[in-house]
Amino acid sequence: MPAIEFEHVSYQYKSGVKALDDVSFTIERGELVVLMGENGSGKTTILKHLNGLLKPTEGRVIIDGTDTRTATVAQLAAKVGLVFQNAEEMFFESTVRDEVAFALKNFGYSEDVVKRRVEWALRFMELDAYAENSPFILSGGEKKRLALAIVLAWGPEIIALDEPTIGQDSLQKEKMAEMVRLLNTQGKTVIMASHDVEFVADLSPRIILLSRGKVMGDGTAEEVLTDVEKLAKCSILPPQVVATLTRLQDLSITRRTLSVEAAAREVVEKIWR
Ligand SMILES: Nc1ncnc2c1ncn2[C@@H]1O[C@H](COP(=O)(O)OP(=O)(O)OP(=O)(O)O)[C@@H](O)[C@H]1O
Ligand SMILES: [Mg+2]
Repeated sequence: MPAIEFEHVSYQYKSGVKALDDVSFTIERGELVVLMGENGSGKTTILKHLNGLLKPTEGRVIIDGTDTRTATVAQLAAKVGLVFQNAEEMFFESTVRDEVAFALKNFGYSEDVVKRRVEWALRFMELDAYAENSPFILSGGEKKRLALAIVLAWGPEIIALDEPTIGQDSLQKEKMAEMVRLLNTQGKTVIMASHDVEFVADLSPRIILLSRGKVMGDGTAEEVLTDVEKLAKCSILPPQVVATLTRLQDLSITRRTLSVEAAAREVVEKIWR
């Protein structure tokens, strides 16, 4: 059974904006998928359908075999952990520790388990030093990590991340990539929205490309991120290595790659031949 199925999903906000227009895709368990597309293309709207925050105007969203229309919020929350684009929207407790503990208590875990999981999640996201602080005074990057710690603590099978690298410095971005890989190798299904092409190229996930609420492409990172024309239509700049190879057309380099090493080898070969 797939982890996530979108069947001809359209979604219209009350304002009249049609944010999703006949979106269909299937994500198997254990896949790593990134949604890419210009501002307003519908990435956040898709993620909010995963845990039932939004229900499709037309079509069906099926999570782990359950139609989100028939599932309760609690049922979906146990399966899907969504980290918001604006992490602050998730906070309401007075300390970082309580914030992570809140959902766990709600899920009915014993005090002992809650304590252990909270400490683990805070350490994992390098937030233990801030445990007694108010979540609202954390830096932007720390808030993002707290939002992730909250979700990791309750251990859902599907993890949805909305723009996880915004506000993160390069070291934290690398750690974020490492963590995503780790979760993925543990068998979690990870779906995220990101504008950060270099971060995405590095992760090498399956990419679903969106523009104006429609799916424009769906394939491997190498397929999608080397299709310069299609990326341009979706207002996405290609990764540096792809842009460089594209500009070296005079050397008649046809191979498309996301690997800097492979690109360098190719160029050297062409020059010395
Ligand atoms: N609560 C809302 N009410 C009305 N329209 C909305 C609402 N939220 C989003 N929209 C509109 O729906 C469309 C899709 O928005 P969405 O937030 O899903 O895009 P996005 O791809 O996540 O963009 P970004 O890259 O800026 O995060 C946009 O046109 C947006 O203005
Ligand atoms: Mg968004």
